Amino acid sequence: AQRRVGSTDVLAVVPPPVTVRVPAKVNLHLSVGDVRPDGYHELVTVFQALSLTDEVTVAVADDPGVEVHGEGAATVPTDASNLAWRAVQALAERTGRDPYDPKVRVVIRKGIPVAGGMAGGSADAAATLVGLAALWKLDMTRDELAEVGARLGSDVPFALYGNTALGTGRGERLVPVLGRHVFHWVIALDRRGLSTPDVYRELDRLREESRPPRVGAVEPVLEALATGDPRQLALLLGNDLQSAAVSLRPSLRRTLRAGVAAGALVGIISGSGPTCAFLCSDAGAAVRVAAELSGAGVCRTVRVAQGPVPGARVVASEEPS
Ligand code: C5P
Repeated sequence: AQRRVGSTDVLAVVPPPVTVRVPAKVNLHLSVGDVRPDGYHELVTVFQALSLTDEVTVAVADDPGVEVHGEGAATVPTDASNLAWRAVQALAERTGRDPYDPKVRVVIRKGIPVAGGMAGGSADAAATLVGLAALWKLDMTRDELAEVGARLGSDVPFALYGNTALGTGRGERLVPVLGRHVFHWVIALDRRGLSTPDVYRELDRLREESRPPRVGAVEPVLEALATGDPRQLALLLGNDLQSAAVSLRPSLRRTLRAGVAAGALVGIISGSGPTCAFLCSDAGAAVRVAAELSGAGVCRTVRVAQGPVPGARVVASEEPS
């Protein structure tokens, strides 16, 4: 129901809260180029959105701020550095509202691992943009929201579009990869997160002292996606950040081996890690791999997921009465 404030003559109708569901991502291919003058690395990547999601509710409130619930919530900042809060400020500024007093409360329920290499923070920012666009009844396209989002984090635009996409630049320039095939994944969450900048820095360091292997061309990955054959795709998955993540967290080598021993086609580090993503031949295999991997004691939690799934979208908004 709508709340009405003010006198009966001048009714200010408070819009109902809006809840948005937003997916995690895995990089099927992540080719990292050299570090640019702005500190970012030039990427060629293939993102896939997975059915591992956060839910973000935005509401008009007299006590503005961010709340975070769910696994790992305690380690997420709730101050002005929270990416969802920065999304509120960026969109307020863009639409002529007061960015320092936007009178909005953001409630995040985490299903995406925190600091896990699955773009959880970017996902929350993307969900916040979509939620606010509905709450404030903004006439903005997804491309316009993505433009605002790209300044907040490299992975925000992808969280808005979801599905499968080829990313270049910092990862923010996207082209959709069409294909209706569903892939089945097992996701292994580590006990502690890894910092993305640390992992990029470690890769730069490794590249100075030796020549860590680089992933191949992206085209075969796109062809495998078009066929839908997980076995073909498994041979082509690759991540340049993997050697850096494993260098910082050597125990990940054991997790990757355990997933394959449990029956996965292949295991890779997701993005900057430490989450491991295992591609499986079908839904049944994924459930069996997940069960065996959870008994192996190599990771904190194991989840089954599938992809691709759509990007950030409104799932609930109280209907006006
Ligand atoms: O853009 P985002 O805030 O997600 O990036 C986090 C950090 O990851 C950056 O500060 C940078 O250190 C590193 N990064 C990078 N090259 C990219 C994307 C991220 O070096 N293309």
